[in-house]
Amino acid sequence: MKIYIDTPENIAKMAAKRYVDLLAEKPDAVLGFATGSTPLGLYGELAQLCADGKVSFKNVTSFNLDEYVGLDGTHDQSYRYFMNENLFSKIDIDIANTNVPSGLDTSAETAAAYDKAIEAAGGIEIQLLGIGNNGHIGFNEPETPFGSITHLVELTDSTRQANKRFFNSIEEVPTHAVTMGIKTVMNAKSVILMAIGSAKADIIKATIQGDVTESVPASVLQLHPNVEVYLDFEAAAAL
Ligand code: PGA
Repeated sequence: MKIYIDTPENIAKMAAKRYVDLLAEKPDAVLGFATGSTPLGLYGELAQLCADGKVSFKNVTSFNLDEYVGLDGTHDQSYRYFMNENLFSKIDIDIANTNVPSGLDTSAETAAAYDKAIEAAGGIEIQLLGIGNNGHIGFNEPETPFGSITHLVELTDSTRQANKRFFNSIEEVPTHAVTMGIKTVMNAKSVILMAIGSAKADIIKATIQGDVTESVPASVLQLHPNVEVYLDFEAAAAL
């Protein structure tokens, strides 16, 4: 695990460089994207680099981590909508090659087919991750088995509370989501974990320096051979 600590602006630039380098070498790479506040700086950098002709996503295929159950892609809090707004519409990716789990079809077969589609595309080169205050990656809440593939999950109260800032009220926050599993994430060839802000400091310490345990889903990354962690000074404060 390599750990980089800098300002939010600099870690966004450093992570963006990883994509520029990868796509220079492998223009048709498969990328795993994430939603949330944390990747917004990186997505802004990628949009600018693409506009400047320094990187192209024309031949990229992407798979997102997760989606809320019950929201279709036109809902402004769906993760499909988030990705279209914050990244896909700002880079030259072919929208037909972007994949987000379905929030409407939650069958186990459809979920499992998501892992198969990733595999058929050649596997994810870089899986981007944020981290929840409870250590979730994707929507894999504490105690999710490390062997899990894409599946339906019930969101914990702490996750719904953390995400209610985007909705009018807690009642509107979906209770369930479909998420790549821990094994799906671990199958990626490399992982970039990003965290910003003091609220993430304790869980970052547990993730990096604590035991590898299903109680802290992100701690599984200690077992992955190719992980880069990008932290701002506040998120790194407890290390
Ligand atoms: P955030 O969410 O980037 O909005 O903090 C991260 C997460 O819950 O995985």
